Amino acid sequence: MVQGLEDITGIFQKLTQVNENEMPFSEYLSAMLEIIGKHTGLERLTLCLLDTSLENMHAIACYGLNSCEMEKAKYKLGEGITGKVCLTGQPVIVQNIADEPCFLNRTQSRNKENSDISFLCVPVMSDGKVHATLSADRERCGIEKLREDISFLQLLAYFLAPRLASYYAFSEKCCTKLTDFGENFSSSSFITYSDKMRAVIDDIQKVAPFNTTVLIRGESGTGKEVIANLIYQNSSRRDKPFIKINCAALPENLIESELFGYEKGAFTGAEQRHKGKFELCHTGTIFLDELGDMSLSTQAKLLRVLQEKQFERVGGTETVHADVRIIAATNKNLEEMVAASKFREDLFYRLSVFPIFTVPLRERKEDIIPLVHCFIRRICEENKKNIVKISPSAIEKLMQYQWTGNVRELANVVERAVVLCGEKAVIETEHLPRFLVENNEQTVQKIHKTLDESLEEMEKNMITESLKHTKGNMSKSAAELGITDRILGLRMKKYGLDYKNFRI
Ligand SMILES: Nc1ncnc2c1ncn2[C@@H]1O[C@H](COP(=O)(O)OP(=O)(O)OP(=O)(O)O)[C@@H](O)[C@H]1O
Ligand SMILES: [Mg+2]
Repeated sequence: MVQGLEDITGIFQKLTQVNENEMPFSEYLSAMLEIIGKHTGLERLTLCLLDTSLENMHAIACYGLNSCEMEKAKYKLGEGITGKVCLTGQPVIVQNIADEPCFLNRTQSRNKENSDISFLCVPVMSDGKVHATLSADRERCGIEKLREDISFLQLLAYFLAPRLASYYAFSEKCCTKLTDFGENFSSSSFITYSDKMRAVIDDIQKVAPFNTTVLIRGESGTGKEVIANLIYQNSSRRDKPFIKINCAALPENLIESELFGYEKGAFTGAEQRHKGKFELCHTGTIFLDELGDMSLSTQAKLLRVLQEKQFERVGGTETVHADVRIIAATNKNLEEMVAASKFREDLFYRLSVFPIFTVPLRERKEDIIPLVHCFIRRICEENKKNIVKISPSAIEKLMQYQWTGNVRELANVVERAVVLCGEKAVIETEHLPRFLVENNEQTVQKIHKTLDESLEEMEKNMITESLKHTKGNMSKSAAELGITDRILGLRMKKYGLDYKNFRI
């Protein structure tokens, strides 16, 4: 606990040693809250930022809350104690949260009824405006001690205010994007700061409540499945079944019985009637993932269900009606597949009622840092590891990379880096895959390239992508690229590529 001026000076000395330029701002704030928590015994320290345009607040940094709890820390201006402090600019002491009806326990991080916890909250102000609130819990104690705490928190608020004010001006736009999904729109799993993706979110928000068929398209790893989940969670069918079908994984001979069910005796082994996915999903939502991998014969069967909303079980004559909403996703170019007669045109149009196109990560680089932090936090929490930091040079490499595998590739790279950085607790460039670092070292691009240079670059990229995909297996890559092992070896030598660098 803080004893006196000496302690307070010590804490502030420590706070000034945290270099805000070395890490993302929210991490910097969390590092400060950690110092405060560790030296004062205050618990669940939370900094909530006000987004003036929306009159909403959300936690931007905390100490002592996990990411799920932190995600729940959202308040309207004036709502709960935090909202009131923000609205009035006046600090509040709640001696016992169990006796305070205004205390919402929004994060659900305390057992409100049986607790013996005090809650303190102060405004963080500059230029006469409240930008944020700083709050903390203290195991219940006398009012004198709580008054000392609140004075100390106010001091901290003065210290944080100028830092927050400059960030606030910069991030106001971003915060709007993160919080303004609308009151009834749950989006906790979806992270984006990008305008392009923001437009996608707007579409999702609009279409979710309707029964409209949605076709989600975009490169692999761009979040199509996350979006399908969002649509379902925000639809009126959210309490009804949500069945995911991976069209690529269904064996041709089983697909019909899987989708439509079968009658007893329909085939050897069919000992009793079995309901298929469409019947099981009646009144719910079916997510047809990897749609582009569905065989033509299955496409024909699917078309019938979509058109007539009815089908027969395999081996049966009874017509079964199914009221299902369809969400489909694919990373394939369906127009090209239609042109090549690999995808039915009628089905394509039937499904393309409301297409949604996800945005590749390389076209929304502003999402990289927030995603990295989200992944670091999640991985560390899942593995009960202290949150690790990431160095500016590592961030720089991540920002320069082209991310052909999109968010999934980023998540994998971050997970690997968290594991490799071990007790060092800081992710450095050495913890990133070598292909990523090396690739960037050669990013000084010439504006004008000769045809040969362009072709070489393309060849090198294709080989790199393939080696990434096969995790450095040269034979598999040679087969994938349609060249011999020997030629691949020669090309790799030419481009300075080493298969070992891809064995992540
Ligand atoms: N905006 C996002 N916020 C947080 N996590 C995301 C986001 N987008 C994608 N992810 C994560 O990235 C990974 C890939 O996402 P997802 O499976 O939805 O991609 P996809 O587009 O369906 O890929 P594929 O075409 O290969 O099936 C998942 O782990 C997902 O949780
Ligand atoms: Mg997917």
